[in-house]
Amino acid sequence: MPYTAPKIVTPPPGPRAREWIAREGRCLSPSLSRTSPLVGVRGEGVFVEDADGNVFLDFGSGIAVNSLGHRHPAVIAAIKEQLDRLVFLNSLDYYTTPQVEYAEMLFARTPGRFPKRVFYCNSGSEAVDTSIKMAKWHTRRPYGIGFVNGFHGRTMGAVSFTTTGAAPRRGFAPLYPIGQFVPYPYCYRCMFNRSYPGCDLHCMSYLTDVTLKKIAPADEVAFIIVEPVQGAGGYIVPPPEFLPRLAEIARANGIVLIVDEVQTGFGRTGRMWASDHTGVAPDIMAISKAFAHGLPAGAAVARAEVMNWGEGAHEGTLNAGPVVMEAAKAVLEVIEREGLVERSRLEGEYLLKRLEELRERHPLIGDVRGLGLMVGIELVADARKTPAREKRDRLIAEAFGRGLLLLAAGESSVRLAPPLVITREQIDTGLSIIEDCLKLLG
Ligand SMILES: Cc1ncc(COP(=O)(O)O)c(C=O)c1O
Repeated sequence: MPYTAPKIVTPPPGPRAREWIAREGRCLSPSLSRTSPLVGVRGEGVFVEDADGNVFLDFGSGIAVNSLGHRHPAVIAAIKEQLDRLVFLNSLDYYTTPQVEYAEMLFARTPGRFPKRVFYCNSGSEAVDTSIKMAKWHTRRPYGIGFVNGFHGRTMGAVSFTTTGAAPRRGFAPLYPIGQFVPYPYCYRCMFNRSYPGCDLHCMSYLTDVTLKKIAPADEVAFIIVEPVQGAGGYIVPPPEFLPRLAEIARANGIVLIVDEVQTGFGRTGRMWASDHTGVAPDIMAISKAFAHGLPAGAAVARAEVMNWGEGAHEGTLNAGPVVMEAAKAVLEVIEREGLVERSRLEGEYLLKRLEELRERHPLIGDVRGLGLMVGIELVADARKTPAREKRDRLIAEAFGRGLLLLAAGESSVRLAPPLVITREQIDTGLSIIEDCLKLLG
């Protein structure tokens, strides 16, 4: 039976889920941080069923991975066809065709009409690590610059530029030896206590006049890495001129601009790439998450002149297997055939408008912001904007109990990243659960 609405048959986590969670707790890494006690056994469209038969409406898409919903029939068919032909052939020692076809599709759909090359890998962190290594190899410069609240992943290179909190970094120093950090234009909580637009993006003046002059000499900086909308940091949408200003600073100083589109890519923000909102063509773009419908996949797409490293400089055995690449091709086809980028824009506007209405009624909501179906709600305890972290966590827990999956971001924000195939009615269902929970939290 296809799912049509959330359905709670036993308060989650039910007995089966609790048993799995206990077993898992004895064998998996204790470093994993769980948002909700969901033990998923089946997914379809915007719904996930748990081990006890509860059905949840998925407003997080597994952090923007299940953007086409769960088990999109066209992608599943492409995967099955490829499974019947060739599951795996090491695509670095030999040649396989889907990775070439996909590269050609990607180049036609990524910003910039210049020659490009792609390096495939298996995750967002790896895509970031690849980008960092490539920029270093290309420039032979030592410094790298990231942003406060940035999230780029967990491998040693990526975590070196992850500054969403202490936990990902504690215990791992020394990280990438000379990373420097600049405040992101998080205008709701400006680190310089200025306000936009009067500030004229003071954070960019800080970059040019302090960081690049006094800390990391511009001609020794290999790369600047940035999320076009910060994800784990709190779904923070910068002013539209931010990325163009940054690109100009990078270009003027021979610095490689790495745009991390791992979370924002594949239509999430109402354009195919968040960079497309700004006209910026990144020197390197890191992509992953919605790439291959949940199969492990990532890539660094670069200007051909930047990806000029030599044979043997960077490789990986499991990269670009044919099943993953066929899934990726199907994902792009579905996004276009079903007009999902436009849907993301339209439904995102609707979601934002409805959340603005909620904000008027509930002072617990300090800010709502978003681009396309990447929408953040920031909860605050008072007019001084004290982050309401505990209430944010309770909101997520209460929503879970009512059959709605939500994810956290930043200090006290909730991120809404539903599948791009979500209908207006399903958005309304999710919003009414959120409002019930807000009423409860006061
Ligand atoms: C912007 C961004 N970059 C990189 C990553 C790391 O990706 P992964 O978890 O696949 O390694 C994430 C993951 O959330 C992300 O949001």
